[in-house]
Amino acid sequence: MRIYLDNAATSWPKPEAVYAAVDHYQREIGIAAGRGGYNDAVAAQRIVESARRELATLINAPNPNHIIHGCNGTDSLNLAIHGTLRPRDHVVASVTDHNSVLRPLADETRFRDVTVTYVGCDAQGLIDPDDVRRAIQPNTRMVIATHASNVTGAIQPLAEIAAVAKGADKLLMVDASQSAGHVGIDVQNLNIDLLAASGHKGLLGPPATGFLYIREGVEDLVHPTRQGGTGFESQLDRMPDELPTRYEAGSLNGSGIAGLAAAVRFLRERTIEAVAAHENMLVKRLWEGLAALPGVRLYGPPPSPQRGPVVSYSARGYDPQEFTAALDAARGIQARAGLHCAPKMHQALGTFDAGGLVRMSVGWATTVEEIDEVLNVASAIAGA
Ligand SMILES: Cc1ncc(COP(=O)(O)O)c(C=O)c1O
Repeated sequence: MRIYLDNAATSWPKPEAVYAAVDHYQREIGIAAGRGGYNDAVAAQRIVESARRELATLINAPNPNHIIHGCNGTDSLNLAIHGTLRPRDHVVASVTDHNSVLRPLADETRFRDVTVTYVGCDAQGLIDPDDVRRAIQPNTRMVIATHASNVTGAIQPLAEIAAVAKGADKLLMVDASQSAGHVGIDVQNLNIDLLAASGHKGLLGPPATGFLYIREGVEDLVHPTRQGGTGFESQLDRMPDELPTRYEAGSLNGSGIAGLAAAVRFLRERTIEAVAAHENMLVKRLWEGLAALPGVRLYGPPPSPQRGPVVSYSARGYDPQEFTAALDAARGIQARAGLHCAPKMHQALGTFDAGGLVRMSVGWATTVEEIDEVLNVASAIAGA
């Protein structure tokens, strides 16, 4: 049996209700949502809409039609970035961002003369909102904040960053891929204009799910970057104006979305707070156990409720890839090594040249026994 500690990449296992919802959709419905008026097509559409409502409730979005289903967090971030930026715009981003932000921005820089200021972070991966304020320029279109770092687990001071963005009358886009399902997010309270998230990490949905929230009114600024069939208004040579259809070209991932709806219901019933409390307890145990090992150096904020469930570290004498290979070989422990698609974060931490870090990310189903076993094995490897 494996010990899975890569929940920051995608969560596993999923709650039983998620497998059941996917199975039900594939066997009993099995058709494209929003395509056709027969009974099962309507049932498929209802499931897709119920997922929209669950996600809207989760982040306190007033209108479920402003939740756009996407393929994953990356897809939703691409829509938000490429759809909103115009030639010669300026963006305030940060070194904590993932490649799903960095690469679309690099593309904008290359092909549309967009300029980007990357705000730095402290040793724990936290951004200073004053740095964001200082980076804003007259032509800044958008401030981007990665809510929780996938490397250090640091959760950014979103309310302060939002106040800076609003104070300067700039759009705020949040990458909540690592925070959704771990911490509560209220898009109205936080004045968020665009929020992208994966559905398959902390939200516990199936692979290839994700969504983008677009605040009402902001859609006027977001061009649909993908065009195609929508199942209605087929006479138009462009995407229909209505949301969510404007941004949902092509057949949706019906069974994935059905699973995502079940996952968010599961989280609502169990409560995000209860899941987070379990994960925080495991992070503390893992952190303290690793801290006691010779040659292990931990990165990111120490255990606290204000932190995502990832623990990253280096082990003296080991390349991170060698260390994770040894964990896997010894006991099927599945952890991640490398730059974690966040090269600027590793440059900021000073871990880039050493090939990044070892990252262990716990989940709702990780047990205390598994963490103790991981510590035993890590101790044997680090002490060897
Ligand atoms: C901070 C962050 N943003 C975005 C993504 C991309 O999410 P997805 O894998 O759903 O495309 C990830 C994935 O690891 C991430 O950690």
